[in-house]
Amino acid sequence: MSSSAHKLDNIRLIPARQIEGRLRLPGDKSISHRAALIAGLAAGSSEISNFSTARDCASTVACLQELGVSIEYRDQKLFFSGNQKLAAPGRPLDCGNSGSTLRILTGVLAGHDFTAELIGDESLSSRPMRRIIEPLELMGAKIEATGGRAPLKVHGSAKLNPITYKLPVASAQVKSAILFAGLNAAGRTTVIETTPSRDHTERLFNGFGVAVTTNADLSITLDGPARFDGGAITIPGDVSSAAYFVAAAMLLPQSQLTIEGVGLNPTRAAFLSVLSSWGGDISTDDVQTDRNEPFGTINVGGGISRAADETERTLSQAMIPSLIDELPLLAVVGSQIDGGIRVRDAGELRLKESDRLATTALNLRAMGAEVEEFEDGLEVSGPTQLQGALIDSRGDHRIAMAFAVAALIAKGETQIEGSECVGVSFPEFFPLLESLAKR
Ligand code: S3P
Repeated sequence: MSSSAHKLDNIRLIPARQIEGRLRLPGDKSISHRAALIAGLAAGSSEISNFSTARDCASTVACLQELGVSIEYRDQKLFFSGNQKLAAPGRPLDCGNSGSTLRILTGVLAGHDFTAELIGDESLSSRPMRRIIEPLELMGAKIEATGGRAPLKVHGSAKLNPITYKLPVASAQVKSAILFAGLNAAGRTTVIETTPSRDHTERLFNGFGVAVTTNADLSITLDGPARFDGGAITIPGDVSSAAYFVAAAMLLPQSQLTIEGVGLNPTRAAFLSVLSSWGGDISTDDVQTDRNEPFGTINVGGGISRAADETERTLSQAMIPSLIDELPLLAVVGSQIDGGIRVRDAGELRLKESDRLATTALNLRAMGAEVEEFEDGLEVSGPTQLQGALIDSRGDHRIAMAFAVAALIAKGETQIEGSECVGVSFPEFFPLLESLAKR
């Protein structure tokens, strides 16, 4: 990064020679959302350490406070006294940019006897919400929306009907909304997945005293009404944040990187196996668990040591949900792989904070890569020497970070417009990248 890197909203980056360092990361965003909601609903007191610093998770905490939950922040921990009762909020609940906050909290509110309005920023207000409205209305809540989008007005009921619901899309947010609503349903709620998505909700429910069973046929069951015990948890480092540094280290040959205490849940860490199969020198060790969530150390040595075959260079079908947030980054790495890479069955990427198939293709092309865009994926040719360019993040944190990695291996300077959006998931990203990148 050059000295003008301080103008945060339009950051400038220059190439790096290597990535070197040993670090720990702020808590995982997905796990933090769920831990805060669980602690807010629990009978006993809770203590959350290494809570995410993401703006998205601050939205979840602020919404809980607006619902009357008192949360104390002390010594970098969140404290919840337990046995708190959610109450009708005095104003709309602002979910900011956070799809997880809006969708999962709607599931929580569906099971409470009051009306609440949920709002979000422009990006969140353009994202599809019928996927949660349909199952939650089947359970007995009433939800008003505008063309299937936020703002949402949720008229909840403390006595929901348990349902059996087959998810039409692989979405952990939808699955979680239904499971949180199932806490206030009398009887067995069953969610059936066609492809497994991240399972933090299932793991943490079990970790905090509400039994959730995942069966071989991909059905997930929960018997309501049920209440969490509360307790202490240390949130593992965010593996999706780690991904940017892991990829940068792999792409810069002399690198040596160690990330400790990072989440290694298999429904999230699949990109590590993909990068290894593409020739990356990546290993994990010191694996432990906290409340059923595995975490450990990731070690990365720089360079691509072998060519991948065509199967390894194709990301499709059941692999997609476990790679969903890393696909823009994997497309950047793909531009450096012999034979390039293909992503298919990933139409869901068009419904994220930006249309991530379009924004990834646009920005890779701006850097000189050859990219073909499909309705449900991308084909990226490789290897290509990327050129520094002006990157349009479209306000999407994962696009800004993926192209910051591209900037390190490009020729010349790259500018990322709207780079401030990284705060949505990882406010420390640019200073940390600066400290790890050697020139
Ligand atoms: C998330 C689930 C995924 C993911 C998002 C976080 C979660 O979204 O893309 O960043 O915390 O459950 P979908 O459920 O829409 O796939």
